[in-house]
Amino acid sequence: MLAGLAISTGAGLLESRTMPVKTVAICTGGGDCPGLNAVIRAAVKASILKYGWRVLGIADGFDGLIWPEKSRELKLSDVSGILPRGGTILGTTNRGNPFRYRLEENGQTVERDLSDRLLRNAHQLGVDALIVIGGDGTMKIALDLQRRGLNIVGVPKTIDNDLSATDVTFGFDTALHTATDAIDKIHTTAESHHRIMLVEVMGRDAGWIALEAGLAGGAHVILLPEIPFTVEGVCDFVQRRESQGKKFTIVVVAEGVQVPKELEPRFVAEKRALSRSGSVANLVGDALARCSRRETRVTVLGHIQRGGAPSPFDRILATRFGVAATELADRGEFGRMVCLKGTSVQSVELAEAIGCVKAVDPKGEMVRMAKAIGICFGD
Ligand code: F6P
Repeated sequence: MLAGLAISTGAGLLESRTMPVKTVAICTGGGDCPGLNAVIRAAVKASILKYGWRVLGIADGFDGLIWPEKSRELKLSDVSGILPRGGTILGTTNRGNPFRYRLEENGQTVERDLSDRLLRNAHQLGVDALIVIGGDGTMKIALDLQRRGLNIVGVPKTIDNDLSATDVTFGFDTALHTATDAIDKIHTTAESHHRIMLVEVMGRDAGWIALEAGLAGGAHVILLPEIPFTVEGVCDFVQRRESQGKKFTIVVVAEGVQVPKELEPRFVAEKRALSRSGSVANLVGDALARCSRRETRVTVLGHIQRGGAPSPFDRILATRFGVAATELADRGEFGRMVCLKGTSVQSVELAEAIGCVKAVDPKGEMVRMAKAIGICFGD
């Protein structure tokens, strides 16, 4: 079938013409996520088996188009056995924006716009379409490259499940299983020691992992970025539980919670000294221990949630997205991102898809349901 093909004008800008796709390139950008390899596998298989295209694997986000020697052709043998593997065989980075690329020059870090070089290399490699698998930041870069004439098809990913353009992102289900399993394990030790146990989960801008793992793991308190809380509110709740004979409390904390006013000075002062993840839960845990005078422990799940084999749901969704991306490229529908709406795989304009966080609705059904069964949000 015919598709829009980018032709170099020699000035770094590409011009779209209608030509058949012969070579498709694939890259993964931003933080990794279970299911990336499943997308790569599906896109490579469909490209070769269904369309007869040549496939290039672009290394480390967009870096492999800035330094093309890092990239390589992907054959069917390269994707054999990668369906259940976490991570990405292509490598990734969340520091590789070609429009503001950080380089060391004369012992100094400087930012340079390397997009012309990237577009020239893409043309020299014969890239007719680039499948970009990434989160919101990566999709913004992809849109800028599309506007410069590179034919882009987007595939959304994030364990946080916070992209409004798709009902679900692959990786979320796996992260949810990991977090729920951890909360189940924390439960037994918390109960034995009569302790307050905090579990920090990922979720920088939205609390989906915290809310759903908290619900699935039977947490007593769930702290979300979307719902401001006070330490006093959580402490009162713990004390009420105690007065009912319940001597342990499980608190699930999303890493992106709004730090309560009273903890702000300490958060600001200590943030540099603390590792990125864990800063919030440790501060809240300390404050809760002081306020409730109960033994308190903190577990930070961190990047464990991003690793490991994808769940069956994520493998299937990732495979559907990978095939759908090749179908968009085949139809010449560039500047679009595949997505899930209800139960069907569709696509949206990249420009519409980016910058819209899908947050937990503090007044929505899920939160109301959780409150109805006595879960505290600290508000
Ligand atoms: O965006 C996904 C995410 O998992 C966030 O929840 C988290 O803040 C971030 O990645 C951490 O990314 P990294 O440590 O790799 O920079």
